[in-house]
Amino acid sequence: MLFKQQALLRQKLFVLGSLAIGSVLYLVARVGTLDRLQPICPIENRLTPPEPEQIPLRTLQFKRGLLHELRKGNATKEQIRLHNLVQQLPRAIIIGVRKGGTRALLEMLNLHPAVVKASQEIHFFDNDQNYARGIDWYRGKMPFSFPHQITIEKSPAYFITEEVPERIFKMNSSIKLLIIVREPTTRAVSDYTQVLEGKERKNKTYHKFEKLAIDTNTCEVNTKYKAVRTSIYTKHLERWLKYFPVKQFHIVDGDRLITDPLPELQLVERFLNLPSRISQYNLYFNATRGFYCLRFNIVFNKCLAGSKGRIHPEVDPSVVTKLQKFFHPFNQKFYQITGRTFNWP
Ligand code: A3P
Repeated sequence: MLFKQQALLRQKLFVLGSLAIGSVLYLVARVGTLDRLQPICPIENRLTPPEPEQIPLRTLQFKRGLLHELRKGNATKEQIRLHNLVQQLPRAIIIGVRKGGTRALLEMLNLHPAVVKASQEIHFFDNDQNYARGIDWYRGKMPFSFPHQITIEKSPAYFITEEVPERIFKMNSSIKLLIIVREPTTRAVSDYTQVLEGKERKNKTYHKFEKLAIDTNTCEVNTKYKAVRTSIYTKHLERWLKYFPVKQFHIVDGDRLITDPLPELQLVERFLNLPSRISQYNLYFNATRGFYCLRFNIVFNKCLAGSKGRIHPEVDPSVVTKLQKFFHPFNQKFYQITGRTFNWP
């Protein structure tokens, strides 16, 4: 009898305990998501943000789920109309630099409730064929979003393609431009590593980095090598400055985005005139990957694909030094123009 009573009591305690844990988990999830449902400021009013408008509760519930459905093409016209969803031209573009951390930056910014990313690189402004398709084609490539949200796309080839600044200017002369850079020699090696991997996948042989980066006749840095040219950031930036004032650019430190992403993301939030919503909760270090990964909520998190964060081949230290010396004066100019200084050699 006593044993039966004890068992009953244990059962009751178990049920009560489960209910309590369930409630706590629910509250944690709810607070986490509610925190993301904060009013946002329109991008145009960067200096004096107005009283933020309240985002309807629907936005919170539907941002991820509904947009996901829409992207998969499962939404009806009625759903789109009902939720007031639109395909908007980007109000900010990550224009480069290739291998600077452009994917990580886009994915991390997408943690912000007011940001919607175009998942694919669209290559509208750098590809003549795409550009000839017109602005409505470009808009049609954008994800559905709520009108108060801002769409961001990234196509790193924009930074180095000559025609692009003028084309973007014609679309929107007040657009915000994000450039993520890494120490130029490291970036060049990363660029090489990506191409090398592509060659190896096709069972092709490829030169060593040293052979490509240094002109064997002159023993000087080979400025014809694309990975070297791309890292001369100031040369490319100067072309952009013929169209856009420097205040329309924000330089992101790609090396710090790897080691300590939050402060970099907070600077971007400020540049985009968005309230600070991305928090340490959204970013966690994954020791297996060796990189920060993204936490959207209590159940959904993700790391970037394995193609991000490749192991670089070892490069002859004398070549590294030669490249660093070569980039040095260009870096100084880049700091001077942008007002952002890095500890590059
Ligand atoms: P490596 O592969 O040389 O390490 P992009 O997206 O512009 O191609 O840049 C790729 C680089 O993003 C990677 O270069 C990697 O170092 C960097 N990166 C920054 N944050 C990352 C993250 N959280 N996860 C994976 N890679 C990240």
